[in-house]
Amino acid sequence: MQKLVIEGGKPLFGEIITQGAKNAVLPVLAACVLCKGTVRLANCPCISDRYASARILTALGARVTTEGSSVSVCCDDADSPNIDSALMKSMRSSIIFMGALLGRYGKCTLSCPGGCNLGPRPIDMHIAAMKRMGAEITDEHGAISCNAPKGLTGCRHSLSFPSVGTTENIMLAAVCAEGETVISNAAREPEICCLADFLRACGAKISGDGSGRIVIEGVRELYPPKDPFEIIPDRIAAATWLSCAACAGGELLVRNCNPAHLEAVIPIFEQTGCRIRVFGTNIYIHRRERLTAPETIRTTVYPGFPTDAQAIIMAPLCTARGTSVFVENIFENRYRHTEAMRSMGADIRAEGKVAVVTGVPALHGTVAEAPDLRGGAALVCAALGAEGTSEIYGVNYIDRGYEDTERLLCSAGADVKRISE
Ligand code: UD1
Repeated sequence: MQKLVIEGGKPLFGEIITQGAKNAVLPVLAACVLCKGTVRLANCPCISDRYASARILTALGARVTTEGSSVSVCCDDADSPNIDSALMKSMRSSIIFMGALLGRYGKCTLSCPGGCNLGPRPIDMHIAAMKRMGAEITDEHGAISCNAPKGLTGCRHSLSFPSVGTTENIMLAAVCAEGETVISNAAREPEICCLADFLRACGAKISGDGSGRIVIEGVRELYPPKDPFEIIPDRIAAATWLSCAACAGGELLVRNCNPAHLEAVIPIFEQTGCRIRVFGTNIYIHRRERLTAPETIRTTVYPGFPTDAQAIIMAPLCTARGTSVFVENIFENRYRHTEAMRSMGADIRAEGKVAVVTGVPALHGTVAEAPDLRGGAALVCAALGAEGTSEIYGVNYIDRGYEDTERLLCSAGADVKRISE
């Protein structure tokens, strides 16, 4: 078992380079199933969810080679359309293979995905979408068998909610399906546009990504782009480093990010009194004084405030002057980090969708368990600003989405050690 031991109260100075986006690389890796030849990807984050994707691809018969942030995937010899339940449980994004495998083989067998416990995370929309495209789907004791003996057919999808995962699954199922697919009320997240860019670079015909109405004309085959395809920067990792500086104080330059993807997040830091400057692909943050509570933060779909940044931004607000209010609209169970924050002295009341944070003058160190990926990252942020030592367990959650957490933070002056017990 590993823990991060964090000596709080050390301001951050320096710079942190943003990793490639977790939520972009995972669907792109699944998309490789549809390509003939070797796909080369650049700026892939070294995180455990990426390794889980590579394990799934390898189990499907693909060849995956890795050198740092570069990954090559060749699925030419892949012949299995099935993913066993242990691999499916290793992360939520395993479900994205459903569309890709159906697109390639016209069949697949998998099970419900795993991932962080954020409350109910059903896959009914994914299944309904695949059925609309001609797949017959049965669920026997958890084994989900999908069969489209005549292949998938393009159709019109009008999503009841702009689900990120469902939009991705439909895109993957549709790129090589017969005819035209239209997704209305599609998710507009930057990671959707990254997947569309990748598929287009492979020869897919997709338009409208980022607009909420995606149109896909099926093509026969996809071929890898000539140059390595670059994964977009991770907007949530960038938000996390900003939050670390907002907690610990100091001046930090978060480099190689896309500030346009953080348009709902940056103003919140500004409202708290942090000085923010955006230079091209860099964001500078300077926190000198005690922060002030910002306006109510409501998580919603992109381009609104991301649910993935909710816990992360709560950390600095625990010690802000005034009362901060959060409304979590995406997931039912996404305040599990608040218990550990309370053990650090935070005054947080969470009920249903709403959390009310009354700023206290300071937090103190604690021993706590990361409840999930972003909740764990939030505890690291909080511990950096707390007085004394914190021990954060459940590091495996944090490693799902963050590369080199302790090295990056230490390079900016933090005192963070990973200890194996
Ligand atoms: C969600 C987030 C995404 C984030 C990811 C990881 C949104 C819109 N999506 O993506 O930004 O990066 O978690 O934390 O913010 N739902 C159903 N049935 C389904 C699929 C989804 O009811 O078949 C519901 C979910 O329970 C949830 C909502 O739709 O309440 C969002 O789901 P979706 O966008 O699909 O989730 P993810 O793809 O996991």
